[in-house]
Amino acid sequence: MIDLHTHILPGVDDGVQRVEDALLMAEDAAEQGVTLMVATPHLFWGERNALSVAQIREGVAQLNALIEAKGIPLKVLPGCEIPLSADLLARLERGEWMPLGGETRTVLVEPPWHEWHAWSAEVLHSLIESGWTVVLAHPERHSIFQRNLALLEELVAMNVHLQATASSLIPGRSSPKTARCAYDLLERQLVSVVASDCHDVTGRRCDMREAYQTLQRAFGQRIAKMLTTTVPQALLRGEKVDLAQIWQKGATDESRWKRFLRAVLRRETDDG
Ligand SMILES: [Fe+2]
Repeated sequence: MIDLHTHILPGVDDGVQRVEDALLMAEDAAEQGVTLMVATPHLFWGERNALSVAQIREGVAQLNALIEAKGIPLKVLPGCEIPLSADLLARLERGEWMPLGGETRTVLVEPPWHEWHAWSAEVLHSLIESGWTVVLAHPERHSIFQRNLALLEELVAMNVHLQATASSLIPGRSSPKTARCAYDLLERQLVSVVASDCHDVTGRRCDMREAYQTLQRAFGQRIAKMLTTTVPQALLRGEKVDLAQIWQKGATDESRWKRFLRAVLRRETDDG
């Protein structure tokens, strides 16, 4: 599997703080079958100065050397989680902010948490018009989208790719509203990729294996592999990703059992 959204770079944001924990995270992910991770730290965090592209590259190179020295079968690529701001395109084109993997034309954009402005969609549109591929981070966790799925449908129609979070799919690991929104998005075939957004090695650990297994049971092996391996790989290679192809829209080969299971998973939030 390929995990496009992680906070494995130590000591730069609210992700792992110690190098030892970054190595534990790498080990844990590799055991789950993750072979490639993109480090996507927040660019601004707390009192710290803005993180530069050079710092990210250097941090990732050091981390890869340690991972290799420990013999962990995992590689980390540089990247960042870009806040949706009015000057996003300009900063990206000036090289101040970085695409996923460092050299691709794919960016991971974190939407605002509380308010969606008229210019928010315009910024994403201008990115796409300029040849960038946009992956929107964890929309199912944002109340602005939980209340208004139509907003996400509009973005997807614009070719924005939605990244659901692994933990949002696993019963008891997220809030009821988040789980419901994640399953609604999957049911409507609007999700392109699943990533862990792991922050630590305990509560917000990398849980890609469990998410894969849940996806496999609820949507079948093809979709599980698509969302956790095939699509992230295509996004890193700069290949065109087509939502209709991912979901094979119109296919009718699914069993009633899978539909029933998905209804249960969507509701199974009491212990969340
Ligand atoms: Fe994140």
